[in-house]
Amino acid sequence: MTPPDIPPLARHVAIIMDGNGRWAKKRLLPRFAGHKAGVETVRKIARAAREMGLEALTLYAFSSENWKRPAEEVSDLMGLLKHFIQADIDEFDANNVRLKIIGHYQALAPELVKLLDEAVARTAGNTGSTLAVALNYGAQDELVRAAQAAAAAGDISTEAIEAHLYTAGMPPLDLIIRTSGEQRLSNFLLWQAAYAELYFTDILWPDFTPKHLEKALEEFAHRNRRYGGL
Ligand code: IPE
Ligand code: IPE
Ligand code: MG
Repeated sequence: MTPPDIPPLARHVAIIMDGNGRWAKKRLLPRFAGHKAGVETVRKIARAAREMGLEALTLYAFSSENWKRPAEEVSDLMGLLKHFIQADIDEFDANNVRLKIIGHYQALAPELVKLLDEAVARTAGNTGSTLAVALNYGAQDELVRAAQAAAAAGDISTEAIEAHLYTAGMPPLDLIIRTSGEQRLSNFLLWQAAYAELYFTDILWPDFTPKHLEKALEEFAHRNRRYGGL
């Protein structure tokens, strides 16, 4: 039995990083400034998650529905992503972090796809922790692809579908955090969320700090996960 003074630590946390636009608006800044500040938060939180001992952190960076935004904003987001990968890959690699991309990222610009593939390949052998970035990710699309792959192999079972999800091989999802006060999943990890705990905070993503992550993990530690049992 786990001693009560050692709360169960989450293994895999996913974050819906929302509120960059509202953060900028509050400051009378262009939305780009919010996204730029959001990248700084990604850096701090990825580092903190690693230091707190999480095995996996999954970040929702661009959804399959985010293409609906103005072309200029989409292009700003892609530019920030490119810069982030180029600037931070050394740190991830040096800290034994394995980078993973989930979502149909092959639909991004070819030079970005190449950069991402190289970064993933470079860190593939790292064993410390996993940072999964969701790009052009949509859970419904993920499930259709997984179901098609399972059907092609002649085995449409829970295990077979799970094995074809983008998150295959990652620890089970423990906790989903969403910032900015919205209380919905917005097509994120719908299958994986089956028994994940949900945590919503009004903090806008650029204002989210390692302290806020700690608070979420602390609350998680006190949740009673029954999985349908007693
Ligand atoms: C989250 O912030 C970042 C992405 C979805 C890429 P938003 O851009 O959605 O910010 P709000 O929701 O407009 O405040
Ligand atoms: C979800 O945020 C997607 C990401 C954080 C990348 P959105 O801002 O796109 O979600 P909705 O539109 O409010 O549901
Ligand atoms: Mg939003």
